[in-house]
Amino acid sequence: MTEDRIHIEPGKLPRHVAIIMDGNGRWARQRGQMRTFGHAAGAETAKKIVEEARRIGIRYLTLYTFSTENWNRPPEEVEAIMQLLSKKLDKEKDNLIENKIRLTVVGDLAGLSRELQRKFKDLFEQTGRNYEMTLALALNYGGRNEVVHAVNRILTEKVNFVTGCEITEKEFEKYLYSAHLPDVDLLIRTGGELRISNFLLWKAAYAELYFTPTFWPDFDEHCFHKALADYQKRERRYGKTGEQIENEKS
Ligand code: FPP
Repeated sequence: MTEDRIHIEPGKLPRHVAIIMDGNGRWARQRGQMRTFGHAAGAETAKKIVEEARRIGIRYLTLYTFSTENWNRPPEEVEAIMQLLSKKLDKEKDNLIENKIRLTVVGDLAGLSRELQRKFKDLFEQTGRNYEMTLALALNYGGRNEVVHAVNRILTEKVNFVTGCEITEKEFEKYLYSAHLPDVDLLIRTGGELRISNFLLWKAAYAELYFTPTFWPDFDEHCFHKALADYQKRERRYGKTGEQIENEKS
C-alpha cells in the first residue's frame, strides 16, 4: 500500500459486505498469461481481503466465487477453479479456525464434486461455532435460482398449506440459501462492469453499490478501504425522505 491511509469510522461499518470478484481473466491476459493464472492471483486477493475484513471488524463477508452461469466456461477453466478452491480450503482451514471465522456457502452444494462437498461439510463442522466473522462463499449460486429453490422448498414442506394462505417476506427469507446472512449493506464489484449479475438478488435489495474498474487481483486493502469510506458517506433512506432520516438522527 503506497497511498495515504483512508479513515474508516469503526462505528459505521457495513455489517454485511458482498463482493463480485471480477477481472481475473483480463488481468491475466494483460500479462500474457492464461486466465487460470488470474484466478490463482484472485484467490490470493480473496485471502487478503478476508483478513482485512476480519481485522477491521466486518461481521459478514460474501464472495461471489462461482455462479450457476460459470459452468458455461471452458471445462478446463471450470476444473482449474474447482481445484484451486479445493486447495485453498485445505490450506486455509487452520487460519479460519484460529481467527474464529465461520465458513458457510450460499448456493447449491449438491452440484459440486463429492470431494468438495466432503471438505465443506468438515469445515462447517469445524468452524460452525465461530463468531468473529462469517465468510460466505457464493458457489454454484444464482440469485434467481435461489428464489425458485426457496419457492420449491416451501411447496414441498408446506403441502398442507391451506390454499389462499399468504407467505410473508420474513417467512420466505427462511428458505433462501442466504437465510443465515443479514441484508447486504455494501455490494462491491471490481473489474469495471456495472452489473449485479444475478448476485444475492433478495438480500441486496437495499445494498449500496460500489463499482471500481480495478481488476480483482489488483484490489488491495487500500481499494477496500476506499469502498468502505465511500459507503460511510452515503445516506441510506430505505424509501424515506432525507428530512425523515435527519429527524430520526436528532
Ligand atoms: C471473475 O473473473 C472470477 C471468477 C468467475 C472466479 C472467482 C474465483 C476466484 C477469485 C478464485 C477462487 C476464490 C477463492 C475464494 C478460493 P473473470 O474470470 O470473469 O474475469 P474477466 O471478466 O476478466 O474474464
